[in-house]
Amino acid sequence: MKILVTGGLGFIGSHTVVELQNEGFEVVIIDDCSNSSEKVLDGITSITGKKPWFEKIDLKEKQKVEDFFKRHEDIKGVIHFAASKAVGESVEKPLLYYENNIGTLVYLLKELSKKAKSSFIFSSSCTVYGQADKMPITEDAPVKEAESPYGNTKQMGEEIIRDTCKVTPSLNAIALRYFNPMGAHPTVQIGELPIGVPQNLVPFITQTGAGIRKELSVFGDDYPTSDGTCVRDYIYVVDLAKAHVVALQRLLAGNNRTNYEVFNVGTGKGSTVLEVIQSFERMSGKKLNYKIVDRRPGDITTAYADTTQANNELGWKSRYTLDEAMKSAWEWEQKIRN
Ligand code: UD1
Repeated sequence: MKILVTGGLGFIGSHTVVELQNEGFEVVIIDDCSNSSEKVLDGITSITGKKPWFEKIDLKEKQKVEDFFKRHEDIKGVIHFAASKAVGESVEKPLLYYENNIGTLVYLLKELSKKAKSSFIFSSSCTVYGQADKMPITEDAPVKEAESPYGNTKQMGEEIIRDTCKVTPSLNAIALRYFNPMGAHPTVQIGELPIGVPQNLVPFITQTGAGIRKELSVFGDDYPTSDGTCVRDYIYVVDLAKAHVVALQRLLAGNNRTNYEVFNVGTGKGSTVLEVIQSFERMSGKKLNYKIVDRRPGDITTAYADTTQANNELGWKSRYTLDEAMKSAWEWEQKIRN
């Protein structure tokens, strides 16, 4: 069965392609390589023994997207990762983010609406909850006003899909709200490749451990948490990738309750920034150079998932611990430095 993965050369996309191929799906990747590399195909191929079909297309080029779907009429499902994701950049260039993340989503949904039946998985984010009032966060927690155009594209993306599903019974969709993805494939053939200075905690930590960054700045230690640093739910990217496969299988088998559903994808466990640093130190055997600095504007205090829905409905549960995920992140960092 043929599945399109947009952004399939990216961090989460490439891990999902591997899991799809392991489950016997035929994968077609579209990626514009703006934030990824064709070399990732070799990594995927060395893990699964099968090279996925790849087309370098920018989804903003509507005509190319139409042509693509004409050439691949047998596509049964789409997992849509392709999007811009730098929060700070989105504040500077909102229209770029709306064009990249919203325009392309509309084109894809238009194509899928033409089909007799189609399944669609959307990369959403726990960012839609903002600072939720209650922990752990359930899917029915209110969506808060977005902190950035990037966050807004995730909220709007969900709304666009929901509205389209309402009038398109042939379209079945699931939005997965990721918490904080981290780590690399255990074979160390694929992993995260941040361009420039990493904005996310884990790649900044591993780059500091590798000596590329002088020290990690810990953004604030005066939050009302166990040690004063922010709490997040760090989910291993392979676990997250598997969640996409089971979500897709749910739609393909017609096991969904409504034609638009939303699931949290996290571990259900919160970790502070200092706990993440300690995990790095345990797994690498190195002391991490870090200092406490001011809070980062826009950061929330605490976010971790209630995963009951994903556990019960998708039959999915995260399996890997923070230490295991960190070990893979560190091995990947060492590999790419060599
Ligand atoms: C970020 C994005 C969010 C996105 C999510 C998933 C921001 C503001 N939010 O969330 O929209 O959905 O990633 O990937 O970028 N930290 C440090 N020092 C650092 C980097 C981070 O102390 O150099 C701390 C942060 O304050 C935070 C935690 O580490 O408490 C995690 O930060 P980060 O990896 O950027 O993820 P989020 O901010 O949770």
